[in-house]
Amino acid sequence: MSYTIGGPPRLFGLVPCAGSGLRAGTDGPKQYAPLAGRPLVAHTLEVWAGLLEVEATLVVLAPDDDRFEQVVPQWQGPRCWSARVGGLTRAESVAAGLAELAVRGVQPHDWVLVHDAARGLLQPQWVRRLMSACGDDEVGGLLALPVADTLKQAGDEEPARVDATVPRAGKWAAQTPQMFRLGLLRAALAAAGPQVTDESSAVEALGHRPRLVSGDPENFKLTWPGDFALAERLLATRMTPSS
Ligand code: C5P
Repeated sequence: MSYTIGGPPRLFGLVPCAGSGLRAGTDGPKQYAPLAGRPLVAHTLEVWAGLLEVEATLVVLAPDDDRFEQVVPQWQGPRCWSARVGGLTRAESVAAGLAELAVRGVQPHDWVLVHDAARGLLQPQWVRRLMSACGDDEVGGLLALPVADTLKQAGDEEPARVDATVPRAGKWAAQTPQMFRLGLLRAALAAAGPQVTDESSAVEALGHRPRLVSGDPENFKLTWPGDFALAERLLATRMTPSS
């Protein structure tokens, strides 16, 4: 693969897959927990492998990961990259993945779409919606959903009690993919440090205003034990020919 400096920007995927996923209550990292007979991350990566607009997708694994090639053997070929460069936080894993992309020839003006391995119900049309909304944007953007529920701020005690009601007007819940240029994103994450929980917040901290593009409720991050059963029910409805 060759790269022309100053040529049209290309699209790359970056899938952080180096978390421990303790909240899911699974036996081991949640990205490897079974979902409809396959590891969660295999569902996620099937979508990225099928997005032919994307030059290549890099999966960021934990340095001591000894399962990936065994449980996702189909992740191979010139567009399916992986690297064991994950860090202690999601932001560190993404930053290390971006450095790896640069080593592999991705240019600062190329677009990178960062997507959680744990959002295994992703559909290609949602990624394409983001790409077409942000392809000409100066900053980039993210899939997100306007918040429908009334928001409560809880105190520290157990059982939880309400401290305050947070006005929901204008609030969106951030999803992934989040799409930014490699150069901007590397600078933003380096400045923001290891604790930011998404790419957009790092870019915002530099003074930019990323685009909010409508996501989908089914693009949720499998986080809690009940999420796997819900995801399986949704996948079952997708697989029904009449649906
Ligand atoms: O922990 P959280 O649910 O926010 O993780 C979101 C995504 O980031 C997951 O796909 C997880 O594997 C990844 N992650 C990572 N490195 C970490 C922590 C999380 O790649 N240290």
